[in-house]
Amino acid sequence: PSTGLVDQRQRALRDLRISVTDRCNFRCVYCMPKEIFGRDYQFMEREELLSFEEITRVARIALDLGVTKLRLTGGEPLLRRGIEDLIHELAQLRTLEGKKPDIALTTNGSALRIKAQALKDAVLDRITVSVDSLDDAKFQAMNDVRFPVARVLDGIAAAQEVGLGPIKINTVVKRETVDEILPLAEHFRGTGHILRFIEYMDVGASNGWILDEVVPSAEVVGLISKVHPLRPLEPNSVGETVQRWEYVDGQGEIGVISSVTRAFCSTCTRARISAEGKVYNCLFAEQGFDLRALLRSGASDLEVTSALTGVWQRRDDRYSELRAGLLDHGKPTRKHIEMSYIGG
Ligand code: GTP
Ligand code: 5AD
Ligand code: SF4
Ligand code: SF4
Repeated sequence: PSTGLVDQRQRALRDLRISVTDRCNFRCVYCMPKEIFGRDYQFMEREELLSFEEITRVARIALDLGVTKLRLTGGEPLLRRGIEDLIHELAQLRTLEGKKPDIALTTNGSALRIKAQALKDAVLDRITVSVDSLDDAKFQAMNDVRFPVARVLDGIAAAQEVGLGPIKINTVVKRETVDEILPLAEHFRGTGHILRFIEYMDVGASNGWILDEVVPSAEVVGLISKVHPLRPLEPNSVGETVQRWEYVDGQGEIGVISSVTRAFCSTCTRARISAEGKVYNCLFAEQGFDLRALLRSGASDLEVTSALTGVWQRRDDRYSELRAGLLDHGKPTRKHIEMSYIGG
């Protein structure tokens, strides 16, 4: 069933990505560079964040509008105290079809060893862990807080042990990190985990993105395929961000997410809520709708529903399709919201 809610481009609302904190214990150079996210950086105060009650309420209303997938992001979502309690609450909600919503979480993996069992018990369905390199020195340089890659791999193992697998691994590829591709592919081949290579995007304003640093996914696939032949797989669903490829020798699949060279806006069914309760209809949206103000003004469910409906109906975003025309000498011409704020 569908509520028939569509935006200006006939896209339905299906996925809600909820950022639960703007904090992170990593300082990945392309996301929260230390020069900007330093000691003095003002993160949000606790009362600025949506409470678990508020998040659950918004999720319930969104599910009534046709959402079927919830994804918790950050910053680093496992830094939000009691995150497993939130997941437990969300798992009690139902979609329009009366099913449990699909609940996923994107994490840097640093706290997975400690949190995996609690997450599983709270009925988290799926987990995605970011790993950009297997080389410890490079990994530590990328997260810029000297966090060893072995501990993230151990976190992935912990998630697998408690039954959260198969796990998706996200790798952002930049020109300077192409050497990481093949070792990562070989490490995860045959493990059942699904490695996905993401084209470096011009999200945020602090990473100094330029087009020259983007490695087209076709190149990534070519590089791996030369050593371990790949063939394309059919999409699991329309609107998928990822293009899937499988190893011809049966050692599993990989994915590529090509928002720069092959935009997927035409089937984009995602809305995002920032940790402070702003609704963004696009990763590159210039402004969000202040849902928190509405929630805290004592609005009824009906009022919240009609606000969300209106926000989605007005939606016309398709930044990735327009990007080429919005660059100047390979650089973005507008300021974007930080990835750590909106959650990816
Ligand atoms: P599942 O298929 O449910 O696992 O979700 P997913 O494919 O959306 O995976 P995930 O949430 O891990 O997204 C992977 C990455 O793709 C994100 O971290 C972003 O970098 C990118 N991405 C996801 N959604 C969008 C989107 O709507 N627009 C753009 N441009 N990039 C996106
Ligand atoms: N381009 C592409 N992906 C990015 N991520 C963070 N910044 C960027 C960027 N500029 C990824 C992280 C994580 C997810 C939340 O988004 O590595 O996998
Ligand atoms: Fe933290 Fe993820 Fe950003 Fe790295 S990419 S700083 S782990 S939120
Ligand atoms: Fe959706 Fe915006 Fe990403 Fe396009 S750029 S796929 S509209 S979030």
